[in-house]
Amino acid sequence: TDMDGFIAGLPKAELHMHLEGSLEPELMVALARRNGVEIPYASAEQARRAYAFTQLQDFLDLYYRGMSVLKTEQDFRDLTSAYLERVARDNAIHVELFFDPQGHTERGVPLDVVMRGITGALDEGQRKLGISHRLILCILRHLSEKEGLEALEAALPWRHRIVGVGLDSSEKGHPPAKFERLFRRAGELGFLRVAHAGEEGPPAYVREALDRLRIDRLDHGNRSLEDPALVERLRHLQMTLTVCPLSNLKLKVVERLEDHPLRRMLQAGLRATVNSDDPAYFGGYLGDNYRAIQKALSLTRDELATLARNSFLGSFMTEAEKKAAI
Ligand code: ADE
Ligand code: ZN
Repeated sequence: TDMDGFIAGLPKAELHMHLEGSLEPELMVALARRNGVEIPYASAEQARRAYAFTQLQDFLDLYYRGMSVLKTEQDFRDLTSAYLERVARDNAIHVELFFDPQGHTERGVPLDVVMRGITGALDEGQRKLGISHRLILCILRHLSEKEGLEALEAALPWRHRIVGVGLDSSEKGHPPAKFERLFRRAGELGFLRVAHAGEEGPPAYVREALDRLRIDRLDHGNRSLEDPALVERLRHLQMTLTVCPLSNLKLKVVERLEDHPLRRMLQAGLRATVNSDDPAYFGGYLGDNYRAIQKALSLTRDELATLARNSFLGSFMTEAEKKAAI
């Protein structure tokens, strides 16, 4: 359609994408074979059929099992390259990627292997596809703060390649306050700070992420809309929200995409963006998310252009890079 053409033509940044969540079943099966790792799927089709989760924890269980096939530098390089090639077709010109080092070091994969693979592919993506990048190290919130602090310290040899620290995994029962000291340390080390909050968790978790983690960007944030004072605060801060429509649908954060709060966020003056979260698991990459939410909410060209512009404004690009992109 006309709108799909308009969306395709918009240069975009993606700000909320977990690299391990871009592991397509085909690559998972191929890497399982290459590395002799057992997975409970005989084929990519079987894996896809198993992706029937309806809440965050059910997804996460499959996500951590899926990433167990990633063992070598080449695996991380293949994973990252596949994502970049795919998102280049959606006219992404800048990406800020999450990765979960604890999901790998726990399994005995050294951080150097992870980092060499990912950064090698990112550098190649910059050279060959013209896609600029930032990396955000995510801390798994279902583990202890002490383990998270150890993961943060272990990453310091790679400090020059990591722009920020994030917080992901099981939200309920693991409030932001659990990681207050870790985020203070991250700030002292000069990292930018982001956190998943208000995906399944209540508005209070978003307030905690602001007050106690001092976040620079809010991942998801959907449930902030339940609290008008919080909305006003986010608007006043011009806090960027990295919203993930197809993820929200798949994990039942919204019942139907037509009920999605994205337009209400824009109308409230919030700096919302569109992102894919875990595209291999949630049924779509960046462009799919734009197209699906446009159709569901009948978003206008102006609204779509605002979303794409927000993706650069909310990015961790330099001011000069932002200027060039917008
Ligand atoms: N890890 C990967 N994707 C996630 C999500 N949507 N929420 C929390 N943790 C995640
Ligand atoms: Zn996420």
